[in-house]
Amino acid sequence: MSEEINKSKVVSNVEYGLEKIFEEAQDFLPLLGTDYVEFYVGNAKQSAHYYKTAFGFQSYAYAGLETGLKDRVCYVLKQDKIRLVLTTALKSDSPIGEHVKKHGDGVKVIALWVDDAKKSWEETTKRGAKSFMEPTVEKDEHGEVVRAGIYTYGETVHMFVERKNYNGPFLPGFQKWESDYNPTPTGLKFVDHMVGNVGWGEMNTWVKWYEDVMGFVNFLSFDDKQIHTEYSALMSKVMSNGNGRIKFPINEPAEGKKRSQIEEYLDFYEGPGAQHIAVATDDIIATVKQLRARGVEFLSAPPQTYYDEIPGRLGNHMSIMKEDINELMSLGILVDADEEGYLLQIFTKPVEDRPTLFYEIIQRMGAKGFGAGNFKALFESIEREQEKRGTL
Ligand code: FE2
Repeated sequence: MSEEINKSKVVSNVEYGLEKIFEEAQDFLPLLGTDYVEFYVGNAKQSAHYYKTAFGFQSYAYAGLETGLKDRVCYVLKQDKIRLVLTTALKSDSPIGEHVKKHGDGVKVIALWVDDAKKSWEETTKRGAKSFMEPTVEKDEHGEVVRAGIYTYGETVHMFVERKNYNGPFLPGFQKWESDYNPTPTGLKFVDHMVGNVGWGEMNTWVKWYEDVMGFVNFLSFDDKQIHTEYSALMSKVMSNGNGRIKFPINEPAEGKKRSQIEEYLDFYEGPGAQHIAVATDDIIATVKQLRARGVEFLSAPPQTYYDEIPGRLGNHMSIMKEDINELMSLGILVDADEEGYLLQIFTKPVEDRPTLFYEIIQRMGAKGFGAGNFKALFESIEREQEKRGTL
């Protein structure tokens, strides 16, 4: 991968002005943020324990047999602005169970917080979105929530959530989940971006879908000449909504000497789906120390030469960098920079047995990019894991 190409790509977009690009987006779909991410999993009770123990999520809300649900159980966990919902079917005859059978544990819903769920559904379905759920009003003693949903890539869904008339714990029908087991948070703040993997030749189809159906803009692109190692390659385009709060990079595999990590994902997820969730922290060193101590497994660190090159790569930004490079190296944290600042990031191994979904922990110190300068080091690390799995 050529560093100059990556840099020039980032520079050209920064010069053009991200705000200007956003202004050009037709904001018929104003999004306030990520509302929740719902996973369909084989055993929500045990997954919830993992997210509490390993990632420091807090018990937040619950729905299941005790609250009147007959077919499923849902545990909601919270850390700062991040809400995760873990859902398991209680019977075999269930679309949730079918989803888990086909895909393994994975993201079903990327829910978006909106002011008007009905309008969001109307604007997107009239532009070609396939409906998942028509606008539905749900009520309980805490008020009402309106939700509506559309399909995106694969079987993944965007749910629009309007909660301005609700003050309950999560959604109507959920009860507060009080637990005696409350591990401390690890400093995770909010969802920075969520990445989707789509099939061969499908990236531009989904880029167009996000442009046409959701009014997003493509503000960064990386082709396989930029994102490759000696062995494998992929292509990626970053889509952003009008106010820049929601960013969805879309990846597709590319031909290389060996098998692309995106192809491995598609094989094991049995189709397109969410590849990683990037969560922001204000102190990545403290967060990663905590996560490692609690058993979260990260991809192996790049070699010493990677860290030796950091001052050269950061240039002027070195003067504002507070972190000790040796400490970053001992934790395996990666560093990248663009015109506006630098960023620190690290990637977990997949969090389920299938090599599918993983997490990124990111701390932005002014940089708006996605760590393009780290792609090569990152992918070489992923290839070392693929090699072990016999899937490279
Ligand atoms: Fe990322």
